[in-house]
Amino acid sequence: MTCDDATTGRFPIYPDPLPHAIEDLPNIMTAMLAEHRPSRMPFFKRMAGLRRSVANDPALLGQIHLVYQSTMHATRAAVYYLPHLDTPGLRRRKLQIFIDDDGLCGGDTHHYQLTRAFRSIGAKCLLDDEEFGEPAELCHYLEAETAHFVRLAPKLYSRSLGPWCTVEVFSVDWMRALADAVSVHFPHFRNEQYFADCFAQNVEERHAAEALAVTQMVLRARPELLHETLRDAKIMAEALDGVWSHLDRIVQSAEIVQANRPVHYPQPTESGAASAWMGRADKLNA
Ligand SMILES: [Fe+2]
Repeated sequence: MTCDDATTGRFPIYPDPLPHAIEDLPNIMTAMLAEHRPSRMPFFKRMAGLRRSVANDPALLGQIHLVYQSTMHATRAAVYYLPHLDTPGLRRRKLQIFIDDDGLCGGDTHHYQLTRAFRSIGAKCLLDDEEFGEPAELCHYLEAETAHFVRLAPKLYSRSLGPWCTVEVFSVDWMRALADAVSVHFPHFRNEQYFADCFAQNVEERHAAEALAVTQMVLRARPELLHETLRDAKIMAEALDGVWSHLDRIVQSAEIVQANRPVHYPQPTESGAASAWMGRADKLNA
């Protein structure tokens, strides 16, 4: 049996019989996602190579924070809707993922930690933490690619476990790439709690292993879900590529116009986004 989208070239062909494919899920997922590895994207290298005077710009850092935090927020909110994890044992494992993001000591969360990390390097954050809410509302402040990801995450996460696997498999890669790139300009950035705790405790490596293991458990009981699991994992990876591409355009734009001109960032392109954005910019400039 082969994946029925194999003719399109979008998904890998997995071997007969189906149970073997399920047991081989980590390898199949790794092979399918290889071409979407976040750290290969030019954004990280370009950010590291910025001139110091450009990298220090609080508005540029605020833009990067908005896009990155929105992407992370979308996945953190969507994980609450993961399907198929209904037995007491699976609910307990799901809860641990929630706790790792939203139940840190002293009421802390990864969201708050990330904002503190960006504020520590001078970012002029465009939204307050509690303004990251419903996707439809958040998208008013986002350009097309990030808005697409933010809208897609809850749909895909509630449909199959594949998108969760994609995000957890990639998390440590993009966190290290971001920490490395920004730390070229702000060496303490990688030591901020958001990064340091995750790296020291191998949180994202554990999440990746857990997501794949739990998904395998579900697929052993319901092998007919394998195709949609792989299909949605791939769709999520493609949407993530869009986020890194937009971040690269933000940095490119800052590079190009930095000499003797006010910095100009790519404007939101979606209907209604421009006016919402300009209102926000006016507020910030006041
Ligand atoms: Fe994670």
